Amino acid sequence: MISHAASIIREAEVFVVTAGAGMGVDSGLPDFRGDQGFWNAYPAYSRLGVSFIDCANPQHFADDPAFGWGFYGHRTNLYRETISHEGFHIIKKWIERNSAEYFVVTSNVDGQFQKAGYADDRVYEVHGSIHWLQCQTPCGSAIWNNDEVIRIDEASMRARPPLPRCRDCGEVSRPNILMFGDRSWLPDRANTQEYLFDLFLKNNAGRPIAVIEMGAGSAIPTIRATSERIGWNLEHATVIRINPREPEIKAPHISMPCGALEGLRMIDVLL
Ligand SMILES: NC(=O)c1ccc[n+]([C@@H]2O[C@H](COP(=O)([O-])OP(=O)(O)OC[C@H]3O[C@@H](n4cnc5c(N)ncnc54)[C@H](O)[C@@H]3O)[C@@H](O)[C@H]2O)c1
Ligand SMILES: [Zn+2]
Repeated sequence: MISHAASIIREAEVFVVTAGAGMGVDSGLPDFRGDQGFWNAYPAYSRLGVSFIDCANPQHFADDPAFGWGFYGHRTNLYRETISHEGFHIIKKWIERNSAEYFVVTSNVDGQFQKAGYADDRVYEVHGSIHWLQCQTPCGSAIWNNDEVIRIDEASMRARPPLPRCRDCGEVSRPNILMFGDRSWLPDRANTQEYLFDLFLKNNAGRPIAVIEMGAGSAIPTIRATSERIGWNLEHATVIRINPREPEIKAPHISMPCGALEGLRMIDVLL
């Protein structure tokens, strides 16, 4: 299994890196696996009896913005402070060694790939990014960089004023992230990234492709479906699925039941 993965990496001319919340776990970030997983990461919400789905609701930015920004401001600060683990750099080293093309597709909103040195125009953030803002109304189509300082009272998980505001109309702003039941998300930035990714696949379809999928759960299967679509539709593409709890994928694709960093290190030793 690992030697097969190593041979796929060795021969790859193209890397597609697909990642879900589990990719952040080895950097010390929580995934939100089940309500209990979410509450372990955010005990304050356990006390309030609110779930991830309750928190990730755009309506808070209109009804109770200090609550909305409590959750997203806390995550903004956390992701800004986080150092991407070595696994990000191992894959980058493989890409450089093979002089390969690459693209990242992630449901993570944390910006950790860019932080690890992946080019901004080689990342498709399917659910948006916490490092970008938009108006919560929205009053227009502007999406701008999140350079706000957001202070949180961690006991209540509420943001302290002043809250980030729209540059155009002065309303409270919100992260440019797709939330649950979200009708005000502006998808333009993600759509541009998707267009670049589709073009990338079209240009590289016939070449040996290594799809390295890490930490993508089956509850919201967007990332897993992306890996499988490439793996089953393109003749020379092989998926390496690294996931400690749900690693299943049919041969000839490769399933590695372990953490992302551990799996990448095991492959790296054989290269
Ligand atoms: N960092 C972030 O940006 C972040 C964090 C949490 C949730 N979210 C978002 O919430 C939604 C949740 O879906 P999801 O499928 O990404 O996450 P999920 O929480 O549903 O699943 C996480 C997956 O990671 C696996 N995992 C756990 N530890 C791992 C490790 N060390 N290495 C590799 N895999 C590991 C788990 O087995 C699981 O399959 C997504 O939209 C996601 O982007 C984002
Ligand atoms: Zn506005």
